Amino acid sequence: MNKQQAHPSDAGPSNPGDQFSKAGFIFAAIGSAVGLGNLWKFPYITGKFGGGAFFMLFILCLIIIALPVLIAELAIGRGGRGNASSSFYKLSGSKFWAGSGLIGVVAAFMILSFYSVVAGWTVYYAVKSFSGSLFSNPDYNGQFEAFTGSWSPVFWQFIVLAICLFVILKGVSSGIEKFNKVLIPGLVIVLLFLMVQALRLPGAGAGVEFFLKPDFSKLTGHSVLEAMGLAFFSMSLGMGAMITFGSYVQKEQSLGTASIAVGLGNLSYALIAGLIIFPTTFAFGIEPAQGPGLVFVVLPAAFSAMPFGSLFGGLFFVLLAMAALTSAVSLLEVPTAYVMSRWNLSRKKAAVYTTIVVFALGVPAALSVGGVLSDIHIFGKNIFDIIDYIASNILLPLGGLAGTIFAGYVWKKAGEEAGLQGIWYKIWRFLLCVITPILIVLVFLSSTGLLDWIIV
Ligand code: PFF
Repeated sequence: MNKQQAHPSDAGPSNPGDQFSKAGFIFAAIGSAVGLGNLWKFPYITGKFGGGAFFMLFILCLIIIALPVLIAELAIGRGGRGNASSSFYKLSGSKFWAGSGLIGVVAAFMILSFYSVVAGWTVYYAVKSFSGSLFSNPDYNGQFEAFTGSWSPVFWQFIVLAICLFVILKGVSSGIEKFNKVLIPGLVIVLLFLMVQALRLPGAGAGVEFFLKPDFSKLTGHSVLEAMGLAFFSMSLGMGAMITFGSYVQKEQSLGTASIAVGLGNLSYALIAGLIIFPTTFAFGIEPAQGPGLVFVVLPAAFSAMPFGSLFGGLFFVLLAMAALTSAVSLLEVPTAYVMSRWNLSRKKAAVYTTIVVFALGVPAALSVGGVLSDIHIFGKNIFDIIDYIASNILLPLGGLAGTIFAGYVWKKAGEEAGLQGIWYKIWRFLLCVITPILIVLVFLSSTGLLDWIIV
């Protein structure tokens, strides 16, 4: 059978604009990795699982799981020069593998539908914080509930998707690359500024100790699985994003070195986020194990009690919005690249159609967190949670496993494409072929509840 017929236009990037410069790729990949995962999810999960020891575990998972998978995904994208599905097909000629790549496309699409909801919340909070109106009413929980219970999140989600669409329409090098080259350094400057402010608060030391001093007695089997899932999400793996980005990387760029740079970049942002949030929570006597409300409900209370709180609060939420936007752009690129080549459409049409469909799925998600659709439950979860659950707990590990098995066992030239040699190649293959698949399967069984079922 003719491979070209199954995927009509999977020849990969065809114009020079569809390629990153070397530095541009590092910025774009860090932009994808650094997002709500680092600044919103990482602190509250680290808080919940006891601080320092969990952070060490997270670092370990970044090194032994996320890094090998990142190298594999980038190699698949660059080797196949196609989208998240056709890259598999071009390297193997197998429809089964093309189908497995499609899991990532669907996952990215679903994740974007609710990621853009939370990104919209952050943009709203940035605006409210700068205007000072966030601090005029100290009932932050009530404010959060009133906002998420209204129609307003739909508007802010629309704004987020419109910005993403605008960037994507500009293309890879003049859109995604330029956007990240400005935002990523901007983000680090604001973050460092906030970190210095947080560390100067009276009582901040206890927060630093909680975050960085490990107490390994707090670790459980569950924290190990949680750290792995977080490392995966935080490095944008299993969703075709890094495969799609890989197809825009120049042949001469070493994927091993680039991946280490992206991993270190991602880790630095998580470290700085922790050094803002934990000193602040401890300085204001707030319990760090608050859950998802930590950023939206707890931190405004802390900012309001700080000198120039509305300025710092505003900066913090702008930063959160920036980080969320750079990640959302990379999520939108995955289905856009797929639609573009699968149906032979222009970038413009593919991006517009994809955004409309994401928005159509995102609106019910936005209205289900306390809003008019919050009474609708599927398997006991609201629409937002069920989309998150299917995408993050089922599709994401499956998508990650597909890339791992493919680069480890099916496509023999993955290591060569990545530019790995000698001992590094051996370590990478061992992790990819043995350790990573076992751990991903464990995460999958645990997050779907199957592990408890098997063990009991
Ligand atoms: N890595 C992003 C974060 O930590 O917020 C989330 C993400 C972006 C996941 C893009 C996957 C992806 F393809």
